[in-house]
Amino acid sequence: MTEQQAPSMRQYGRHMFLCNHGDCAEPAAAEALLRQIEQWNRDVGLNQLRNPHRIKCSLVDCLGVCQKGPILVVYPDGVWYHSVDSAALERIYREHIIGGAPVEELIFHRLYPPGQEPAYAPGVRGDAPPAIDADRLSPVGASNNHDIAEPSTDRNAAADQRRQNARRHVQKKGLVIVNTGEGKGKTTAALGIMTRAWGRKMKVGVIQFLKHENARYGEIKAAARMGDIDWISTGDGWTWTSTDMDETIARARHAWSLAQERIINGGYDLFILDEFTYPLAYGWLDVNEVLAWLEANKPPMLHLVITGRYAPQNLIDFADLVTEMREIKHPFREQGIRAQAGIEY
Ligand code: FES
Repeated sequence: MTEQQAPSMRQYGRHMFLCNHGDCAEPAAAEALLRQIEQWNRDVGLNQLRNPHRIKCSLVDCLGVCQKGPILVVYPDGVWYHSVDSAALERIYREHIIGGAPVEELIFHRLYPPGQEPAYAPGVRGDAPPAIDADRLSPVGASNNHDIAEPSTDRNAAADQRRQNARRHVQKKGLVIVNTGEGKGKTTAALGIMTRAWGRKMKVGVIQFLKHENARYGEIKAAARMGDIDWISTGDGWTWTSTDMDETIARARHAWSLAQERIINGGYDLFILDEFTYPLAYGWLDVNEVLAWLEANKPPMLHLVITGRYAPQNLIDFADLVTEMREIKHPFREQGIRAQAGIEY
């Protein structure tokens, strides 16, 4: 038989218990006090998960005292307060919870002699004492606003309704994604999506519209090693340094016809048109014709990623997601460091 591990505990700074459903007071009174504490916790950040001083506050069944209620117990201080109304609660919160000094005249029972209470969780963990501005507390009664403190059943119903509405609006769609701008990272971000899609066993294709002279980039090698990625060459010769513009334009058009064929017949989940904005921006391809063709022919669930500077405005309007890369610093401009293998290419 394997030994069972004890569950770990999410630590709170303090836990406050309010008695309920006995003869101390009407349940509504304790519930109102609970909502007030929750409001003040929000006011000063004592509800936040990462705050080591955060407070959990609970309504509990009768504590077996049933006199001078409602009763409020602050754990682990071991302090029991009686006759807690809104005024008493405010003093307790300000003086004890924030100030660290229990309100002696409201105490009717102590588990430990004053000054000998066990250290509460933040002290045990060695965190700094809370620095809380008590002026941030809402006035008493502010928690009656249902926007900030609905009764728990109403709150659950409202949350359910929000979840149902959100589900109704969830649609799936093959996105048109454009990475543009002067900064680096446009193709890199597209290849990040490629990697993610490949990891999900989606069918992925890439076509590069500009062929650089030293094109054996790291990403091409990576795609070859990953396998199952169609990396489509647009043919030889059309490069950034081309001097024959007729040839360059013809190559761009040829590449677009290859891309069209793949988009229609390739069965891809993701297709990347790398540096496709240049033929559009330079007028080698008519952007309106390209967009009309995509509108008519792009499979609805195909995600299309287009990269490059100077994205035409009508392409931006057509796309679902557009990101502009902005350069803030560049190693070549500031330090004369040239592009390095494995980083830039
Ligand atoms: S309800 Fe019984 S002690 Fe408060």
